[in-house]
Amino acid sequence: MKHQLTIYYEEFSSFSELSETERLMIEKASVICEKAYSPYSSFNVGATLLLSNGEFISGSNQENVAYPSGICAERVALFFAGSNFSNESIETIAIVSKGELLKMDQILSPCGACRQVLIESEFRQKRPIRVILTSQDGRVVVFSSIVDLLPFAFGK
Ligand code: THU
Repeated sequence: MKHQLTIYYEEFSSFSELSETERLMIEKASVICEKAYSPYSSFNVGATLLLSNGEFISGSNQENVAYPSGICAERVALFFAGSNFSNESIETIAIVSKGELLKMDQILSPCGACRQVLIESEFRQKRPIRVILTSQDGRVVVFSSIVDLLPFAFGK
């Protein structure tokens, strides 16, 4: 028996088509992206979360000369939120990148490890996390749940 999986997502050609809060999240992710510590890849990533209490949490990627010891921007923000706001759920994550690893019109899509952490947050809070992905030239792709980015996820 064959099955087909369909994933829906929205695409916008400019930030101006987004809500004010979404634009603010992208702005915050862009600001923190500049503060990444990325001497080994020269690739900066910023991630901003919107929590259920209205708080914004931002993180940037932090690298290390022992490469696997570094961590992605998304997990910096997610683990900070998990540590300091464990009773709040995550409503949205916005991700911004700057660097030559990606072409200007390429959307940065989170790595597998970050998707796994994101999906566990979603399972724990029993509410979907909206994901806003951007390209360096202003394109935006929005997913309404991490499940769409990690189908058939490993879980409990
Ligand atoms: N990186 C992130 O911070 N988030 C992603 O979604 C993908 C990759 C970081 C890890 C590393 O510091 C650099 O980007 C190059 O892979």
